[in-house]
Amino acid sequence: MSYRITLIPGDGIGPEITKATAKVLEHSGVKIDWEVVEAGVAALEKYHDPLPQEVIDSIDKNRIALKGPLTTPVGKGFRSINVALRKEFELYVNQRPAKTYKGIKSLYFDNIDLIIFRENLEEFYSGIEHYIDSSRSAAETIGIITKRGSERIIRYAFNYAKKHGRKKITLVHKANILKFTGGLFLDVGEEVAKEFPEVQFDHKIVDNMAMQMVMNPYQFDCIVTTNLFGDILSDLASGLVGGLGMAPGANIGDGVAMFEAVHGSAPDIAGQNLANPAAIMLASVMMLEYIGEVKAAMNLEKAIAKVIAEGKNVTKDINQQNYVSTDQFADAVINELDNLN
Ligand code: NAI
Ligand code: MG
Repeated sequence: MSYRITLIPGDGIGPEITKATAKVLEHSGVKIDWEVVEAGVAALEKYHDPLPQEVIDSIDKNRIALKGPLTTPVGKGFRSINVALRKEFELYVNQRPAKTYKGIKSLYFDNIDLIIFRENLEEFYSGIEHYIDSSRSAAETIGIITKRGSERIIRYAFNYAKKHGRKKITLVHKANILKFTGGLFLDVGEEVAKEFPEVQFDHKIVDNMAMQMVMNPYQFDCIVTTNLFGDILSDLASGLVGGLGMAPGANIGDGVAMFEAVHGSAPDIAGQNLANPAAIMLASVMMLEYIGEVKAAMNLEKAIAKVIAEGKNVTKDINQQNYVSTDQFADAVINELDNLN
């Protein structure tokens, strides 16, 4: 059996790191038949459209995509493709794990293993913004939170926790001040939590949460929150484990999911075979887990972790003095993977 999956190589370092990832996946024991389609600057140059219909059709058909980073040119009226894809497929979950990997410098000694589930479509990211008057003396952003939108992200987080044996969910809000929007999200959380007695549930106000995550991240396991707080706290969580170098992410909707690295297209090092493909490889680990290839996912993660921990075959962002190329890193991961399989 083989899985047909959409591959968007992306811009900048995207083609190099996705190529390395596809190569590694050939040794994962899972057969993938990639449908390669172009978006972003690459597509703009070829088809005069940064998000060709072909990309939408491909994801619509295959329901799973692995996406390289896309460049969003600043100041040229070109919408963010990432946001457009989230909206198109109603990818309401942004799932961001933050995990300690040996060999990556961070402030903490003991292993951190957190997952943030961020609501991805509502509130301040829906683009309902305007100036109140023509002199631009005041501006307004409208952030709508719905019961349906809250329920589906919170339920997703609980189902995930239950399925993967995670112990606890902390819902993060600001319901003391945002009594309506925050209050609604919290109320829905308390209701959904009742259906999952096997998962512990608590909630925290966002400012306190930010402090607690820095002081003692070990008290948390899974975190579910609204869009803006999730945006901030997921980067904070990456900071706890040494930055974005090893940070994968998934955008998930009902029966459709798109996996990517959290970092961008790194134009400064593009085309030099220097980029670290670990984050997008870890995104492909999430993808394997999502399609139910749990054993292959575990082995791939182990292989990546081993190469990083050994430190002999790491890219320049990890070791400035002694580094290997993107391709050599991939070969080292393949070597470990072949030993495991
Ligand atoms: P960036 O993440 O591309 O780069 C920031 C710094 O980190 C650079 O010095 C870069 O060389 C380094 N870096 C990033 N990924 C790396 C990797 N895998 N290996 C080694 N070094 C790496 O962020 P920046 O410069 O703010 O954005 C560049 C472009 O990427 C922009 O057009 C931005 O809109 C886009 N972007 C796209 C994202 C996506 O498609 N999901 C996410 C973030 C930014
Ligand atoms: Mg962000």
